[in-house]
Amino acid sequence: MISYTDDMSTLEASQLRGFFVGWPAPPSPEQHLAVLRGSYYAVVAMEGDGRAVGFINMISDGVLTAFIPWLEVLPEHQGQGIGRELVSRALKAAESFYSVDLLCDPQLQPYYEKLGMRPVPGMGLRNWSALRG
Ligand SMILES: CC(C)(COP(=O)(O)OP(=O)(O)OC[C@H]1O[C@@H](n2cnc3c(N)ncnc32)[C@H](O)[C@@H]1OP(=O)(O)O)[C@@H](O)C(=O)NCCC(=O)NCCS
Repeated sequence: MISYTDDMSTLEASQLRGFFVGWPAPPSPEQHLAVLRGSYYAVVAMEGDGRAVGFINMISDGVLTAFIPWLEVLPEHQGQGIGRELVSRALKAAESFYSVDLLCDPQLQPYYEKLGMRPVPGMGLRNWSALRG
């Protein structure tokens, strides 16, 4: 049974194991927790045993614009609608804003299109040394 919470205050780093699959230098669970707590809005999908199996976070000016940096569902829990629920909750939290942006690989564009988003052009910069394993 999956439950969803947007209260990051009681979440612990030990509940955030296994994320950032395939990253050469993934953020530590402590960094991950700090990211969630520092976000404008975040939702975590939890198993009954308290283990996090998915998350989304959103940063924002709180007035008109928001950005979704990360969305992930653990591999063994994918394909069950958890990602869709996480995105829906984040978009609901931003429904009064002018813009909600995110970056994704082209093959995921249809996924986000089904959730009401449209492709936009963009630019970025990456400092991989900021990620601590
Ligand atoms: C993308 C991701 C979050 C989707 O989570 P999920 O819980 O598996 O998604 P859902 O069960 O809600 O899937 C809903 C739909 O999206 C489709 N979908 C899921 N992952 C997809 C992918 N990588 N590419 C294309 N379509 C995908 C599913 O087939 C499903 O389609 P349907 O509605 O026609 O049945 C998950 O695959 C994941 O964590 N991937 C690795 C990290 C990642 O890519 N994050 C996104 C960064 S922008």
